[in-house]
Amino acid sequence: MSVTVVIGAQWGDEGKAKVIDYLSEKIDIIARYQGGANAGHTVVVDQKKFIFHLIPSGILYPNTICVIGNGVVVDPDVLISEMENLKKENIQIENRIFISDASHIVLPFHKIIDEHKEKQAENHKIGTTKRGIGICYADKMLRIGIRIGDLFYQLESKLSNLVNLKNKELELLYHLKPLDYEKIYIDLIDFRKKIESMVIHTPSFFEASIKQGKTVLLEGAQGTALDIDHGTYPYVTSSNTTIGGALSGTGISYRHIENVYGICKAYVTRVGEGPFPTELKGEEGNRLRELGAEYGATTGRPRRCGWFDVELIKHSGRINGLTGLVLTKVDVLSYFETIPVCVGYEFFGKKIDYFPSYGLEDCIPIYEYLPGWKEDISRINRWSELPKNCKTYIEKIQEWTNIPIKFVSIGPGRDQTLML
Ligand code: GDP
Ligand code: IMO
Ligand code: MG
Repeated sequence: MSVTVVIGAQWGDEGKAKVIDYLSEKIDIIARYQGGANAGHTVVVDQKKFIFHLIPSGILYPNTICVIGNGVVVDPDVLISEMENLKKENIQIENRIFISDASHIVLPFHKIIDEHKEKQAENHKIGTTKRGIGICYADKMLRIGIRIGDLFYQLESKLSNLVNLKNKELELLYHLKPLDYEKIYIDLIDFRKKIESMVIHTPSFFEASIKQGKTVLLEGAQGTALDIDHGTYPYVTSSNTTIGGALSGTGISYRHIENVYGICKAYVTRVGEGPFPTELKGEEGNRLRELGAEYGATTGRPRRCGWFDVELIKHSGRINGLTGLVLTKVDVLSYFETIPVCVGYEFFGKKIDYFPSYGLEDCIPIYEYLPGWKEDISRINRWSELPKNCKTYIEKIQEWTNIPIKFVSIGPGRDQTLML
């Protein structure tokens, strides 16, 4: 039992990367299992900010191994530029980054179609990151996608078939020029040269590593409420962000899973469209956004902000079997007189005590009100030093969600983490 899984418990951007970096000090292998360059994972070390889209957030410790699992959709340009940026920062990456031979590749037309599909959607926009994620996963499900392994075996016939199909789509549905097959092919051959030595068969790699006693951390992207099955469909991403995705996206057996940590902000944010019961509109929302610097790490879009939602976390606990919670950005709440927490919903006059699969837009939050603490906590070193009202806020969340809180984060830095 040596695998820990880190999963976003809300709508993404919960501070997963900060927690993953913090935990990675004692971990041998960190692996992404789903999503792609739609993720924006921020790690701050010695005041320096790193934003990862594809490379696991544990890369900043010198001896960790980082793996991109088969469930991830890999954009070659993003991966290469991320590796080059790390080299510029003198971070050794040789023999430290591996990619599954079964990961699907995000191709130029995936991104173009993602963008144009959104443009044409009018009242049905998802607000995607335009990174081609949904379109690439759709091709995976249609069994016409190109995988990393295809770069080494029968690439031409598979690629020409896909490019022909996509060029028809570009012309007929979006009235765009067809793409040049040769250019896509040459770019992929160039990509193959750059990653050749990094490609592995992940299930056997993980099996052997776990047998040798290595510790593994699985890095979720996005969050539970963006899961294709358990999220606020259709306003979700196109992968299983939850525990099932961690297994299918790596080929690691469920038997090895020891800890499943749900990461949640002490309030809630969301980017893109879709229901959000505790959302604060107007001045209050702007205040929380400015205090929390809530702007997307991938697209720079302002994040929608609202109060903590217990039902959402219970939903995440139920699906993922969370063994613990990590509560982040508690420092951001230091400036409020009173802090509302949503403890249930009213749906057309009836109280419901679960996160519904439909009708969330018509759920009215039921709030409990907790007193604020109104003092800076970002330099505190111990749990015992936190103001009484802040401790009460954290303890109430633990009580209402019925999930033990393992850590509390009070700032973006590694040292701004308190163990409970
Ligand atoms: P992720 O996608 O879940 O990894 O989260 P993001 O990196 O997109 O967004 C989290 C943001 O909050 C980043 O800018 C982090 O540096 C920052 N952050 C993480 N934990 C804390 C915290 O406890 N307090 C504050 N103030 N910022 C934090
Ligand atoms: P991390 O890993 C927050 C959102 C998009 C959009 C929806 C679908 O940094 O937490 P997609 O491009 O995936 O088809 O967009 O999902 N979204 C995220 N929101 N954090 C993320 O990742 C996200 N990745 C996608 O805003 O609403
Ligand atoms: Mg993010």
